[in-house]
Amino acid sequence: MCGIVGYTGAQSAAPILLAGLKNLEYRGYDSAGIAVLDKGAISMAKASGQIKNLCQKTNDGAELHGSAGIGHTRWATHGAPTDTNAHPHLSNDGKFAVVHNGIIENYMALREELMEEGFVFASETDTEVIVHLLDLYFKATGDCKLAVMKAASRLEGSYALGVICAERPGRVYAVKEASPLILGVGIGENFFASDVTALIAHTKNIIYLDDGEFAEITPDRITVYDCAGTPKKKPIFRVAWDIEAAEKGGYEHFMLKEIMEQPRALKATIEPRIKDGRIAFEGLPDDYLAGIEKIVISACGSAYYAGCAGRYAIEELCRIPVETELASELRYRNPLIDEHTLLIVISQSGETADTIAAVRECKARGAKTLAIVNVVGSTIAKLADNVIYTWAGPEIAVATTKGYTTQVAALNMFAVYAAERLGRISPERYAALVEALRSMPERVQRAIDLNKNIPELAKRYHDNQSLFFIGRNIDYAICLEGSLKLKEISYLHSEAYAAGELKHGTIALIEEGRLVISVACHEALFDKMMSNIKEVKARGAKVLAVVLEGNRRIFSEADDVLFVPVGEPLFMAAIEIVPLQLFAYHMARENGCDIDKPKNLAKSVTVE
Ligand code: G6P
Repeated sequence: MCGIVGYTGAQSAAPILLAGLKNLEYRGYDSAGIAVLDKGAISMAKASGQIKNLCQKTNDGAELHGSAGIGHTRWATHGAPTDTNAHPHLSNDGKFAVVHNGIIENYMALREELMEEGFVFASETDTEVIVHLLDLYFKATGDCKLAVMKAASRLEGSYALGVICAERPGRVYAVKEASPLILGVGIGENFFASDVTALIAHTKNIIYLDDGEFAEITPDRITVYDCAGTPKKKPIFRVAWDIEAAEKGGYEHFMLKEIMEQPRALKATIEPRIKDGRIAFEGLPDDYLAGIEKIVISACGSAYYAGCAGRYAIEELCRIPVETELASELRYRNPLIDEHTLLIVISQSGETADTIAAVRECKARGAKTLAIVNVVGSTIAKLADNVIYTWAGPEIAVATTKGYTTQVAALNMFAVYAAERLGRISPERYAALVEALRSMPERVQRAIDLNKNIPELAKRYHDNQSLFFIGRNIDYAICLEGSLKLKEISYLHSEAYAAGELKHGTIALIEEGRLVISVACHEALFDKMMSNIKEVKARGAKVLAVVLEGNRRIFSEADDVLFVPVGEPLFMAAIEIVPLQLFAYHMARENGCDIDKPKNLAKSVTVE
């Protein structure tokens, strides 16, 4: 949700900032802007719409001179996505420019206070109060570092800020509270950004800034201070992946690339954790589940749906009650959570505001917390008692694919691990399940290879304006994610229903030609699904079925069929979703949608 980037070095800053912003565009793309320091003055350019508009306006950055600067790509919260509301924001005297990711909750009170002081506001944003506070405290102290510290101390809410000051050439400042921010360590040049993808072309050496810390950055030096202004020594981490991971690599869209990467991503999640036929999670003690009476899985969006799918295996194998709850709901209830509860939170980015709040809420109630997260060093990874990283590599497309499947795989692995620790499965079943986990990557590859007809199907079905997904058991959980995938990138209305629930209302919407995607891979419930398929067919629906490879009975009812390879029924989720991801992708492509950057969405949702 908004991306920020900063640079100081010997090169021209503007092209570097623009390239960094392009890599952060998945965080928001309503408008963008950059500000660059040159000869004691700040020059700035902003444009509404995607970053390409800003590139055009600035001749790819050639029109802004200077070797230190800050940039921003916006997902609008306060004020429409206009040029005026776009960041950076300037102080009235033009000496400070600021970019901000997050929300300043007390901005109304600060705005009134600053207006009384005579500051004039140009935009409707919450961010603009920050730049006037900087101006106020700089005039009072003459010390830029102190001004940044004092301004930050007045802010309530979440922020990652980048600041430049016309009177401090070659210097950029970065400060954070509850929004992601990392520093990039180069040679004769240094950086900050919302995440690694913006910096990986320049450096793999990263410092993770913690909440309340701020950094003063020059071409040769990064100094990190705590909120009292005392310098701190920070470790430098080396990023484990290369620039290619953040590029399209010949694919038309990041989403397609990331779908195709799933076998590799799953292998990276699963293989290193199986040693001599046994599952081991780093940091989890042998008696991890001692005293646990209930597991609550909480997350947002697709991560929540990964939890819905993963729940079946945990409950089935461990025989512990598992509840799933949206993080945005959990945080505002008075949930029955105590020291006998294990909270599993799931988040690709590790920065989703509601998920962070759910962890805090449950920790305060004494629960043990385990996070399944993709981004190393993210807020949720640091907040939870234990972490299982998904090792999917950077995910750029807003609609998650490999993020989701690796989350499901991590949950499936945890189910087997926990069941064994609790003594609830036989050694033979354990060995068979470990084997099933190991075969997941190749089965996902098979699910990709089996369904070459999907582009054709999308041509046939893309102008259906309203669709339904139906399934039972894990197949139902897959429907939830398949339906979300389709609606978020193709803008078609779609809903997922537990197949047995159709007759309680939704069947009223089934009519001639309505497309019903019927996921029927759960063999034990196949006959029940066939009855539901017959019910919708009898009312004129067209049926696109997803079934196990080799199933012939489906041909008597379905209009079209997608196949997935046979395997352990408890671990079908990561396999079954693959044709539905591809279907969503090709439907969106047929409809000419901006697949990697769907309208109104952002990948990292750092607001409530
Ligand atoms: C946004 C993204 C979704 C994602 C959800 C949760 O809505 O567009 O793809 O599932 O946030 O994100 P997280 O990073 O916590 O998994």
